[in-house]
Amino acid sequence: MKISLKLGLWFSVCILLIEIVSMTYLHRNLVHSRVHQELDHLQATGNSQRDILEINSDSHTLSHIKLLGLHSDTQVVVTNTNGEVILTSIKINSSINDILNIPISNSKLPRNGKIIQSDWKSEQYISTVTAFNQNGKEFGYVYMFKNTADVQKLISQLNKHMIVASLLILFSVLIFIFFLSKALTKPLITMKEATKKLSKGDFTVTLPKPSNDELGELSEAIQTLANDLNYLKQERNEFLASISHELRTPLTYINGYADIARRPNLDEKDRVQYLEIIREESQRVSSLLKELFELAKLDQNTFSINKEKVNFCNYIHSIYERVLPAFKNKGIQLILDCRDNIFINLDPIRFEQVLINLLDNCLKYSKESSTTSVSVIEEYGILQLTIKDKGVGIPVEDLPHIFDRLYRVDKSRSRATGGFGLGLAIVKQLVEAHGGNITVESQVGEGTCFTIVLKR
Ligand SMILES: Nc1ncnc2c1ncn2[C@@H]1O[C@H](COP(=O)(O)OP(=O)(O)OP(=O)(O)O)[C@@H](O)[C@H]1O
Ligand SMILES: [Mg+2]
Repeated sequence: MKISLKLGLWFSVCILLIEIVSMTYLHRNLVHSRVHQELDHLQATGNSQRDILEINSDSHTLSHIKLLGLHSDTQVVVTNTNGEVILTSIKINSSINDILNIPISNSKLPRNGKIIQSDWKSEQYISTVTAFNQNGKEFGYVYMFKNTADVQKLISQLNKHMIVASLLILFSVLIFIFFLSKALTKPLITMKEATKKLSKGDFTVTLPKPSNDELGELSEAIQTLANDLNYLKQERNEFLASISHELRTPLTYINGYADIARRPNLDEKDRVQYLEIIREESQRVSSLLKELFELAKLDQNTFSINKEKVNFCNYIHSIYERVLPAFKNKGIQLILDCRDNIFINLDPIRFEQVLINLLDNCLKYSKESSTTSVSVIEEYGILQLTIKDKGVGIPVEDLPHIFDRLYRVDKSRSRATGGFGLGLAIVKQLVEAHGGNITVESQVGEGTCFTIVLKR
Protein backbone atom coordinates (compact mmCIF):
# COMPACT_ATOMS: atom_id res chain seq x y z
CA MET A 1 0.00 0.00 0.00
CA LYS A 2 1.32 3.46 -0.90
CA ILE A 3 2.47 5.58 2.02
CA SER A 4 0.35 8.55 0.90
CA LEU A 5 -2.75 6.31 0.90
CA LYS A 6 -1.82 4.86 4.28
CA LEU A 7 -1.26 8.32 5.77
CA GLY A 8 -4.49 9.56 4.19
CA LEU A 9 -6.48 6.63 5.61
CA TRP A 10 -5.03 7.07 9.08
CA PHE A 11 -5.75 10.79 9.06
CA SER A 12 -9.29 10.17 7.76
CA VAL A 13 -10.08 7.57 10.42
CA CYS A 14 -8.78 9.90 13.15
CA ILE A 15 -10.71 12.90 11.86
CA LEU A 16 -13.87 10.76 11.46
CA LEU A 17 -13.62 9.57 15.05
CA ILE A 18 -13.03 13.11 16.33
CA GLU A 19 -15.98 14.35 14.28
CA ILE A 20 -18.33 11.61 15.49
CA VAL A 21 -17.45 12.23 19.14
CA SER A 22 -17.67 16.02 18.93
CA MET A 23 -20.87 16.04 16.87
CA THR A 24 -22.58 13.58 19.24
CA TYR A 25 -21.57 15.72 22.19
CA LEU A 26 -22.79 18.89 20.46
CA HIS A 27 -26.06 17.25 19.41
CA ARG A 28 -26.84 15.98 22.89
CA ASN A 29 -26.18 19.36 24.46
CA LEU A 30 -28.11 21.29 21.87
CA VAL A 31 -31.18 19.01 22.20
CA HIS A 32 -30.98 19.08 25.97
CA SER A 33 -30.78 22.86 26.15
CA ARG A 34 -33.50 23.22 23.48
CA VAL A 35 -35.94 21.01 25.45
CA HIS A 36 -35.11 22.82 28.65
CA GLN A 37 -35.66 26.14 26.95
CA GLU A 38 -39.16 24.94 26.03
CA LEU A 39 -39.79 23.70 29.55
CA ASP A 40 -38.56 27.00 31.04
CA HIS A 41 -40.86 28.85 28.69
CA LEU A 42 -43.78 26.64 29.75
CA GLN A 43 -42.95 27.21 33.39
CA ALA A 44 -42.64 30.98 32.92
CA THR A 45 -46.03 31.11 31.12
CA GLY A 46 -47.59 28.97 33.88
CA ASN A 47 -46.16 31.38 36.48
CA SER A 48 -47.61 34.43 34.77
CA GLN A 49 -51.04 32.69 34.55
CA ARG A 50 -50.68 31.99 38.28
CA ASP A 51 -49.99 35.67 38.97
CA ILE A 52 -53.12 36.65 37.03
CA LEU A 53 -55.24 34.01 38.76
CA GLU A 54 -54.02 35.11 42.17
CA ILE A 55 -55.10 38.68 41.43
CA ASN A 56 -58.38 37.71 39.91
CA SER A 57 -60.00 34.35 39.19
CA ASP A 58 -63.44 35.36 38.00
CA SER A 59 -65.02 33.79 34.91
CA HIS A 60 -63.91 36.70 32.76
CA THR A 61 -60.24 36.16 33.65
CA LEU A 62 -60.60 32.41 33.17
CA SER A 63 -62.03 32.79 29.67
CA HIS A 64 -59.24 35.24 28.86
CA ILE A 65 -56.63 32.67 29.92
CA LYS A 66 -58.37 30.00 27.86
CA LEU A 67 -58.38 32.29 24.85
CA LEU A 68 -54.65 32.88 25.22
CA GLY A 69 -54.05 29.11 25.32
CA LEU A 70 -56.17 28.56 22.23
CA HIS A 71 -54.14 31.11 20.25
CA SER A 72 -50.66 29.97 21.22
CA ASP A 73 -48.68 26.75 20.80
CA THR A 74 -48.77 26.12 24.54
CA GLN A 75 -51.91 24.74 26.16
CA VAL A 76 -53.23 25.42 29.62
CA VAL A 77 -55.38 23.37 32.05
CA VAL A 78 -56.39 24.81 35.42
CA THR A 79 -57.62 22.46 38.17
CA ASN A 80 -58.58 22.94 41.78
CA THR A 81 -56.72 21.18 44.53
CA ASN A 82 -59.03 18.17 44.21
CA GLY A 83 -58.03 17.68 40.62
CA GLU A 84 -61.31 18.90 39.10
CA VAL A 85 -60.74 20.79 35.86
CA ILE A 86 -61.77 24.45 36.11
CA LEU A 87 -60.53 25.54 32.73
CA THR A 88 -58.95 23.92 29.68
CA SER A 89 -57.78 25.25 26.35
CA ILE A 90 -57.44 21.76 24.92
CA LYS A 91 -59.54 18.64 24.66
CA ILE A 92 -58.48 16.37 27.50
CA ASN A 93 -57.29 13.08 26.10
CA SER A 94 -55.63 10.12 27.81
CA SER A 95 -52.09 11.60 27.60
CA ILE A 96 -53.24 14.80 29.26
CA ASN A 97 -55.24 12.83 31.76
CA ASP A 98 -52.18 10.76 32.63
CA ILE A 99 -50.23 13.91 33.35
CA LEU A 100 -53.10 15.43 35.36
CA ASN A 101 -53.18 12.24 37.43
CA ILE A 102 -49.52 12.36 38.32
CA PRO A 103 -49.64 12.92 42.05
CA ILE A 104 -48.14 16.26 43.00
CA SER A 105 -45.88 15.71 45.97
CA ASN A 106 -47.34 15.89 49.44
CA SER A 107 -45.15 18.78 50.40
CA LYS A 108 -45.98 22.18 48.95
CA LEU A 109 -45.06 22.85 45.33
CA PRO A 110 -42.22 25.30 44.84
CA ARG A 111 -43.45 28.82 44.16
CA ASN A 112 -42.07 28.72 40.65
CA GLY A 113 -43.72 25.38 39.89
CA LYS A 114 -42.04 22.27 38.58
CA ILE A 115 -41.58 20.10 35.52
CA ILE A 116 -43.79 17.04 35.61
CA GLN A 117 -43.18 15.58 32.17
CA SER A 118 -39.97 16.14 30.23
CA ASP A 119 -39.88 12.99 28.08
CA TRP A 120 -40.06 14.56 24.62
CA LYS A 121 -39.27 11.34 22.81
CA SER A 122 -42.09 8.98 23.78
CA GLU A 123 -44.79 11.19 25.34
CA GLN A 124 -47.26 13.37 23.46
CA TYR A 125 -46.78 16.37 25.76
CA ILE A 126 -44.14 17.90 27.94
CA SER A 127 -45.57 19.69 30.88
CA THR A 128 -45.07 21.92 33.94
CA VAL A 129 -47.30 22.70 36.88
CA THR A 130 -47.57 25.78 39.12
CA ALA A 131 -49.78 26.15 42.18
CA PHE A 132 -51.85 29.33 42.71
CA ASN A 133 -53.19 30.62 46.00
CA GLN A 134 -56.25 32.42 47.09
CA ASN A 135 -56.69 34.02 50.48
CA GLY A 136 -53.24 32.69 51.47
CA LYS A 137 -54.22 29.08 50.79
CA GLU A 138 -53.33 26.80 47.89
CA PHE A 139 -56.41 26.95 45.64
CA GLY A 140 -55.50 25.11 42.46
CA TYR A 141 -52.93 24.26 39.79
CA VAL A 142 -52.01 25.70 36.42
CA TYR A 143 -50.80 22.91 34.08
CA MET A 144 -48.96 24.01 30.98
CA PHE A 145 -48.56 21.65 27.99
CA LYS A 146 -46.56 21.67 24.83
CA ASN A 147 -47.03 19.12 22.11
CA THR A 148 -43.80 17.11 21.63
CA ALA A 149 -44.45 16.95 17.88
CA ASP A 150 -43.25 20.58 17.75
CA VAL A 151 -40.11 19.73 19.73
CA GLN A 152 -39.45 16.68 17.58
CA LYS A 153 -39.85 18.73 14.42
CA LEU A 154 -37.41 21.23 15.76
CA ILE A 155 -34.90 18.53 16.68
CA SER A 156 -35.21 16.78 13.34
CA GLN A 157 -34.39 20.13 11.69
CA LEU A 158 -31.39 20.44 13.98
CA ASN A 159 -30.34 16.89 12.97
CA LYS A 160 -30.55 17.81 9.31
CA HIS A 161 -28.35 20.88 9.82
CA MET A 162 -25.82 18.89 11.79
CA ILE A 163 -25.61 16.13 9.17
CA VAL A 164 -25.06 18.70 6.41
CA ALA A 165 -22.41 20.46 8.52
CA SER A 166 -20.69 17.14 9.32
CA LEU A 167 -20.63 16.12 5.68
CA LEU A 168 -19.24 19.50 4.65
CA ILE A 169 -16.51 19.33 7.30
CA LEU A 170 -15.69 15.73 6.37
CA PHE A 171 -15.49 16.56 2.69
CA SER A 172 -13.22 19.56 3.15
CA VAL A 173 -11.04 17.65 5.60
CA LEU A 174 -10.71 14.78 3.11
CA ILE A 175 -9.57 17.19 0.40
CA PHE A 176 -7.14 18.77 2.85
CA ILE A 177 -5.80 15.34 3.87
CA PHE A 178 -5.39 14.34 0.24
CA PHE A 179 -3.13 17.31 -0.47
CA LEU A 180 -1.38 17.11 2.90
CA SER A 181 -0.44 13.44 2.51
CA LYS A 182 0.78 14.14 -1.03
CA ALA A 183 2.90 17.05 0.24
CA LEU A 184 4.27 14.99 3.13
CA THR A 185 5.14 11.95 1.07
CA LYS A 186 6.55 13.78 -1.95
CA PRO A 187 10.03 14.26 -0.42
CA LEU A 188 9.96 10.63 0.75
CA ILE A 189 9.21 9.45 -2.77
CA THR A 190 12.00 11.62 -4.17
CA MET A 191 14.37 10.09 -1.61
CA LYS A 192 13.21 6.59 -2.47
CA GLU A 193 13.93 7.26 -6.16
CA ALA A 194 17.35 8.64 -5.19
CA THR A 195 18.30 5.57 -3.13
CA LYS A 196 17.08 3.33 -5.97
CA LYS A 197 19.46 5.19 -8.30
CA LEU A 198 22.25 4.81 -5.74
CA SER A 199 21.69 1.07 -5.46
CA LYS A 200 22.01 0.83 -9.25
CA GLY A 201 25.40 2.54 -9.06
CA ASP A 202 24.29 5.94 -10.31
CA PHE A 203 25.66 8.35 -7.74
CA THR A 204 24.80 11.58 -9.54
CA VAL A 205 21.65 12.24 -7.53
CA THR A 206 20.63 15.74 -6.53
CA LEU A 207 17.94 16.04 -3.91
CA PRO A 208 16.03 19.31 -3.45
CA LYS A 209 17.31 21.68 -0.79
CA PRO A 210 16.27 20.12 2.52
CA SER A 211 13.72 21.67 4.85
CA ASN A 212 14.60 22.25 8.47
CA ASP A 213 13.07 19.06 9.91
CA GLU A 214 13.65 15.29 10.17
CA LEU A 215 12.82 14.79 6.48
CA GLY A 216 15.33 17.51 5.62
CA GLU A 217 17.98 15.79 7.71
CA LEU A 218 17.28 12.47 6.00
CA SER A 219 17.49 14.09 2.58
CA GLU A 220 20.76 15.76 3.53
CA ALA A 221 22.15 12.42 4.80
CA ILE A 222 21.25 10.72 1.50
CA GLN A 223 22.82 13.57 -0.46
CA THR A 224 26.02 13.28 1.59
CA LEU A 225 26.03 9.52 1.08
CA ALA A 226 25.61 9.97 -2.69
CA ASN A 227 28.43 12.53 -2.80
CA ASP A 228 30.72 10.28 -0.76
CA LEU A 229 29.96 7.27 -2.95
CA ASN A 230 30.57 9.35 -6.04
CA TYR A 231 33.90 10.51 -4.62
CA LEU A 232 34.84 6.93 -3.69
CA LYS A 233 33.93 5.73 -7.16
CA GLN A 234 36.15 8.37 -8.75
CA GLU A 235 38.92 7.66 -6.29
CA ARG A 236 38.70 3.92 -7.01
CA ASN A 237 38.91 4.55 -10.75
CA GLU A 238 41.92 6.81 -10.32
CA PHE A 239 43.46 4.28 -7.96
CA LEU A 240 43.03 1.44 -10.45
CA ALA A 241 44.43 3.60 -13.25
CA SER A 242 47.46 4.43 -11.10
CA ILE A 243 48.02 0.81 -10.14
CA SER A 244 47.84 -0.42 -13.69
CA HIS A 245 50.27 2.32 -14.66
CA GLU A 246 52.56 1.42 -11.75
CA LEU A 247 52.54 -2.24 -12.78
CA ARG A 248 52.86 -1.62 -16.50
CA THR A 249 56.12 0.32 -16.25
CA PRO A 250 58.25 -2.34 -14.49
CA LEU A 251 56.62 -5.11 -16.51
CA THR A 252 57.55 -3.31 -19.74
CA TYR A 253 61.14 -3.14 -18.49
CA ILE A 254 61.12 -6.82 -17.50
CA ASN A 255 59.66 -7.82 -20.84
CA GLY A 256 62.07 -5.71 -22.86
CA TYR A 257 65.21 -6.70 -20.95
CA ALA A 258 64.19 -10.38 -20.91
CA ASP A 259 63.95 -10.26 -24.71
CA ILE A 260 67.38 -8.71 -24.99
CA ALA A 261 68.94 -11.06 -22.39
CA ARG A 262 67.69 -14.06 -24.41
CA ARG A 263 69.81 -13.13 -27.42
CA PRO A 264 72.46 -15.86 -27.88
CA ASN A 265 75.35 -13.69 -29.05
CA LEU A 266 75.06 -11.29 -26.09
CA ASP A 267 78.07 -10.33 -24.05
CA GLU A 268 77.98 -12.13 -20.67
CA LYS A 269 78.61 -8.87 -18.78
CA ASP A 270 75.64 -7.18 -20.49
CA ARG A 271 73.45 -10.22 -19.84
CA VAL A 272 74.22 -10.00 -16.09
CA GLN A 273 73.42 -6.28 -16.14
CA TYR A 274 70.08 -6.87 -17.89
CA LEU A 275 69.19 -9.70 -15.54
CA GLU A 276 70.01 -7.37 -12.63
CA ILE A 277 67.57 -4.80 -14.04
CA ILE A 278 64.93 -7.53 -14.40
CA ARG A 279 65.52 -8.56 -10.79
CA GLU A 280 65.25 -4.96 -9.55
CA GLU A 281 62.05 -4.33 -11.46
CA SER A 282 60.42 -7.56 -10.31
CA GLN A 283 61.38 -6.66 -6.75
CA ARG A 284 59.67 -3.33 -7.30
CA VAL A 285 56.49 -5.07 -8.48
CA SER A 286 56.55 -7.45 -5.56
CA SER A 287 57.06 -4.66 -3.00
CA LEU A 288 54.24 -2.66 -4.63
CA LEU A 289 51.94 -5.67 -4.31
CA LYS A 290 53.05 -6.17 -0.71
CA GLU A 291 52.22 -2.58 0.20
CA LEU A 292 48.90 -2.73 -1.63
CA PHE A 293 48.03 -5.90 0.21
CA GLU A 294 48.94 -4.21 3.47
CA LEU A 295 46.66 -1.29 2.66
CA ALA A 296 43.81 -3.59 1.67
CA LYS A 297 44.13 -5.33 5.03
CA LEU A 298 44.11 -1.95 6.81
CA ASP A 299 41.02 -0.93 4.85
CA GLN A 300 39.05 -4.00 5.73
CA ASN A 301 40.12 -3.78 9.36
CA THR A 302 41.27 -7.38 9.10
CA PHE A 303 44.49 -6.57 10.88
CA SER A 304 44.74 -6.50 14.61
CA ILE A 305 46.55 -4.00 16.77
CA ASN A 306 48.27 -5.81 19.60
CA LYS A 307 49.05 -3.08 22.04
CA GLU A 308 51.57 -3.48 24.79
CA LYS A 309 53.12 -1.13 27.29
CA VAL A 310 56.26 0.38 25.80
CA ASN A 311 58.88 2.74 27.13
CA PHE A 312 58.55 5.11 24.19
CA CYS A 313 62.04 6.67 24.34
CA ASN A 314 63.77 3.30 24.50
CA TYR A 315 61.58 2.04 21.70
CA ILE A 316 62.22 5.01 19.42
CA HIS A 317 65.93 4.87 20.25
CA SER A 318 66.20 1.31 18.94
CA ILE A 319 64.57 2.38 15.67
CA TYR A 320 66.89 5.40 15.53
CA GLU A 321 69.93 3.12 15.80
CA ARG A 322 68.61 0.99 12.99
CA VAL A 323 68.04 3.81 10.50
CA LEU A 324 71.06 5.86 11.48
CA PRO A 325 73.51 4.12 9.08
CA ALA A 326 71.32 4.97 6.08
CA PHE A 327 71.19 8.64 7.10
CA LYS A 328 74.97 8.69 7.73
CA ASN A 329 75.45 7.14 4.34
CA LYS A 330 73.66 10.08 2.68
CA GLY A 331 75.42 12.57 4.95
CA ILE A 332 72.25 13.59 6.73
CA GLN A 333 72.39 14.35 10.43
CA LEU A 334 69.68 12.55 12.40
CA ILE A 335 68.93 13.99 15.84
CA LEU A 336 66.77 12.28 18.44
CA ASP A 337 65.35 14.21 21.36
CA CYS A 338 63.51 12.01 23.84
CA ARG A 339 64.61 12.13 27.45
CA ASP A 340 61.76 11.27 29.76
CA ASN A 341 60.47 7.86 30.70
CA ILE A 342 57.24 7.87 28.78
CA PHE A 343 55.17 4.72 28.88
CA ILE A 344 52.51 4.25 26.26
CA ASN A 345 50.35 1.42 24.94
CA LEU A 346 50.97 0.68 21.27
CA ASP A 347 51.61 -2.12 18.82
CA PRO A 348 55.43 -2.00 18.48
CA ILE A 349 55.54 -3.80 15.12
CA ARG A 350 52.83 -1.67 13.48
CA PHE A 351 54.09 1.59 14.94
CA GLU A 352 57.59 0.81 13.74
CA GLN A 353 56.13 0.78 10.21
CA VAL A 354 54.86 4.33 10.84
CA LEU A 355 58.26 5.61 11.97
CA ILE A 356 60.21 3.79 9.27
CA ASN A 357 57.92 5.14 6.53
CA LEU A 358 58.20 8.73 7.80
CA LEU A 359 61.97 8.54 8.28
CA ASP A 360 62.33 6.90 4.87
CA ASN A 361 60.58 9.94 3.35
CA CYS A 362 62.92 12.31 5.20
CA LEU A 363 65.84 10.38 3.84
CA LYS A 364 64.49 10.28 0.30
CA TYR A 365 63.39 13.90 0.08
CA SER A 366 66.32 15.58 1.84
CA LYS A 367 69.55 16.70 0.29
CA GLU A 368 72.96 15.68 1.60
CA SER A 369 74.32 17.41 4.72
CA SER A 370 70.88 18.50 5.88
CA THR A 371 69.34 17.68 9.24
CA THR A 372 66.39 15.56 10.32
CA SER A 373 65.20 15.73 13.90
CA VAL A 374 62.86 13.50 15.84
CA SER A 375 61.47 14.85 19.11
CA VAL A 376 59.02 13.49 21.62
CA ILE A 377 57.18 15.53 24.24
CA GLU A 378 54.50 14.49 26.65
CA GLU A 379 52.00 16.83 28.26
CA TYR A 380 48.69 16.24 30.05
CA GLY A 381 48.69 12.56 29.02
CA ILE A 382 49.16 13.43 25.36
CA LEU A 383 52.23 12.31 23.50
CA GLN A 384 53.45 14.41 20.62
CA LEU A 385 55.98 13.00 18.19
CA THR A 386 57.53 15.39 15.66
CA ILE A 387 59.63 14.35 12.68
CA LYS A 388 61.12 17.36 10.98
CA ASP A 389 63.43 17.48 7.99
CA LYS A 390 65.16 20.25 6.04
CA GLY A 391 64.37 18.65 2.71
CA VAL A 392 62.70 19.71 -0.52
CA GLY A 393 59.31 20.37 1.12
CA ILE A 394 55.83 19.84 -0.30
CA PRO A 395 53.92 22.47 -2.33
CA VAL A 396 50.79 23.82 -0.60
CA GLU A 397 48.47 22.49 -3.31
CA ASP A 398 49.77 18.93 -2.77
CA LEU A 399 49.55 18.96 1.03
CA PRO A 400 45.87 17.90 1.23
CA HIS A 401 46.54 14.86 -0.99
CA ILE A 402 49.78 13.40 0.28
CA PHE A 403 47.95 10.90 2.51
CA ASP A 404 46.01 9.61 -0.55
CA ARG A 405 47.07 6.33 -2.05
CA LEU A 406 49.54 6.42 -4.90
CA TYR A 407 49.82 10.18 -4.60
CA ARG A 408 53.25 11.54 -5.30
CA VAL A 409 54.20 15.17 -5.63
CA ASP A 410 56.69 14.75 -8.41
CA LYS A 411 55.96 11.61 -10.34
CA SER A 412 59.25 11.47 -12.27
CA ARG A 413 61.41 12.25 -9.25
CA SER A 414 59.62 9.71 -7.11
CA ARG A 415 60.08 7.00 -9.65
CA ALA A 416 63.76 7.79 -9.57
CA THR A 417 63.72 7.53 -5.77
CA GLY A 418 61.61 4.37 -6.00
CA GLY A 419 58.43 5.49 -4.16
CA PHE A 420 54.90 4.32 -4.88
CA GLY A 421 53.05 6.99 -2.94
CA LEU A 422 51.65 4.41 -0.53
CA GLY A 423 53.82 5.04 2.51
CA LEU A 424 51.87 7.96 3.97
CA ALA A 425 48.50 6.29 3.26
CA ILE A 426 49.66 3.35 5.37
CA VAL A 427 51.05 5.69 8.07
CA LYS A 428 47.73 7.53 8.39
CA GLN A 429 45.71 4.32 8.65
CA LEU A 430 48.03 2.91 11.31
CA VAL A 431 48.11 6.10 13.38
CA GLU A 432 44.32 6.27 13.30
CA ALA A 433 44.11 2.61 14.26
CA HIS A 434 46.09 3.59 17.37
CA GLY A 435 43.49 6.27 18.11
CA GLY A 436 45.91 9.00 17.14
CA ASN A 437 46.13 11.75 14.58
CA ILE A 438 48.78 12.86 12.09
CA THR A 439 49.24 16.32 10.58
CA VAL A 440 51.77 17.87 8.24
CA GLU A 441 53.30 21.29 7.73
CA SER A 442 55.69 22.01 4.92
CA GLN A 443 57.35 24.72 2.91
CA VAL A 444 59.01 24.17 -0.42
CA GLY A 445 62.79 24.45 -0.10
CA GLU A 446 62.58 24.73 3.70
CA GLY A 447 61.48 21.32 4.88
CA THR A 448 58.60 19.25 6.15
CA CYS A 449 57.30 18.51 9.62
CA PHE A 450 55.00 15.59 10.48
CA THR A 451 53.34 15.62 13.89
CA ILE A 452 51.71 12.58 15.46
CA VAL A 453 49.51 13.01 18.49
CA LEU A 454 48.71 9.95 20.60
CA LYS A 455 46.66 9.69 23.76
CA ARG A 456 48.43 7.81 26.52
N1 LIG B 1 59.50 14.44 4.10
C1 LIG B 1 59.04 14.76 2.89
N2 LIG B 1 59.61 15.76 2.19
C2 LIG B 1 59.14 16.08 0.98
N3 LIG B 1 58.15 15.45 0.34
C3 LIG B 1 57.58 14.42 0.97
C4 LIG B 1 57.99 14.03 2.28
N4 LIG B 1 57.20 12.99 2.67
C5 LIG B 1 56.36 12.75 1.64
N5 LIG B 1 56.57 13.60 0.64
C6 LIG B 1 55.83 13.67 -0.63
O1 LIG B 1 54.61 12.99 -0.45
C7 LIG B 1 54.48 11.93 -1.40
C8 LIG B 1 53.80 10.76 -0.76
O2 LIG B 1 54.63 10.14 0.20
P1 LIG B 1 54.52 8.58 0.42
O3 LIG B 1 55.45 8.23 1.52
O4 LIG B 1 53.11 8.27 0.56
O5 LIG B 1 55.00 8.00 -0.94
P2 LIG B 1 56.43 7.71 -1.48
O6 LIG B 1 57.46 8.01 -0.43
O7 LIG B 1 56.58 8.43 -2.77
O8 LIG B 1 56.38 6.17 -1.79
P3 LIG B 1 56.38 4.95 -0.77
O9 LIG B 1 56.43 5.54 0.62
O10 LIG B 1 55.12 4.26 -1.06
O11 LIG B 1 57.57 4.13 -1.08
C9 LIG B 1 55.88 11.64 -1.82
O12 LIG B 1 55.90 11.14 -3.13
C10 LIG B 1 56.55 12.98 -1.74
O13 LIG B 1 56.36 13.68 -2.91
MG1 LIG C 1 57.32 7.14 1.50
